[in-house]
Amino acid sequence: MVSIKISAVLLIKKIFTQIKNLKKIKSFIQNKKSYKNSAIKVPFILKPFTFIRENGGTITKSYKNFLKIEKYNKSENKKIFYNDIKTWDYKAAMENRYIKNLKFLEDYFIPLLKPDDILCDIGCASGQYTFMMAKHCKYIDGYDMSQNLIDDANEKAKNNNISNVFFHQSRCETIKFDKIYDNMSFMGVLCYVMDDKIAEQTIENLSKGLKKGGYLIYKDNSNNTNGHYYFFGPEENYFMVARSKKKLIKLFQKKGFKIIKEDLFDTVEYKNNKHKKIPLKTDSIGMILQKI
Ligand SMILES: C[S@@+](CC[C@H](N)C(=O)[O-])C[C@H]1O[C@@H](n2cnc3c(N)ncnc32)[C@H](O)[C@@H]1O
Repeated sequence: MVSIKISAVLLIKKIFTQIKNLKKIKSFIQNKKSYKNSAIKVPFILKPFTFIRENGGTITKSYKNFLKIEKYNKSENKKIFYNDIKTWDYKAAMENRYIKNLKFLEDYFIPLLKPDDILCDIGCASGQYTFMMAKHCKYIDGYDMSQNLIDDANEKAKNNNISNVFFHQSRCETIKFDKIYDNMSFMGVLCYVMDDKIAEQTIENLSKGLKKGGYLIYKDNSNNTNGHYYFFGPEENYFMVARSKKKLIKLFQKKGFKIIKEDLFDTVEYKNNKHKKIPLKTDSIGMILQKI
């Protein structure tokens, strides 16, 4: 009698385990389907020249191939990532990087500011760092391409009674400066200007808006090879370039800047969709540059 009861319990247990397994298989299939739907489509011919990341994103070393993949994935309804979001909180998104970036700003940039300085923060997003810099200067102009984020920054300034910040919507490539700034911030933006020629024009434009001897705090994604890596994210229209650090430095030197200080905020190692590491690391770097 006891052994019949034990067998019945074991059988019920087995049935439950099977049901659980079935549920696992079902969710695995569903996950695979949604992963497939969100993955970036890469033309067959370009596949050997790309890395497919485990999250469905694509990395390529060729700008031409990046443009082809972008064209292949084009969708009229999708907005560029930063134009779509309503607020940006770097601390919430990447806390470790945020803390290191903040320390770099506080230790090496803030001490260079004078109370009468006028500043400009390009790619200010919701104003997280703009408001901090505003405490150490006369006033600061913030620029960002995203109207949503400019609206959010204006609301935050109003709610916190901060009167020495002025936010404007503009792409960094085309800002028309109506004054010369004492110091500038350009953090986490150039990696979204994909074309090298336009990136060069942007740095030249920034240089024109900065006084001689003025300082620029700069943050970017980079890598330690001689080439660039172009990323296309699983949500369409999230893209960025991790440029060769050597080439970035050369670009700034060519446009009349010298490096005063540099730091490493974070390193990311990438995996492909077979979950093997691909030979690629990107660095989030910070620099203080001076216009000479
Ligand atoms: C990663 S966030 C950086 C925000 C802030 N500077 C920081 O360091 O936390 C990138 C910001 O750059 C802005 N951005 C991207 N491309 C831009 C462009 N071409 N011109 C101006 N702003 C741009 C985005 O809208 C976003 O607010």
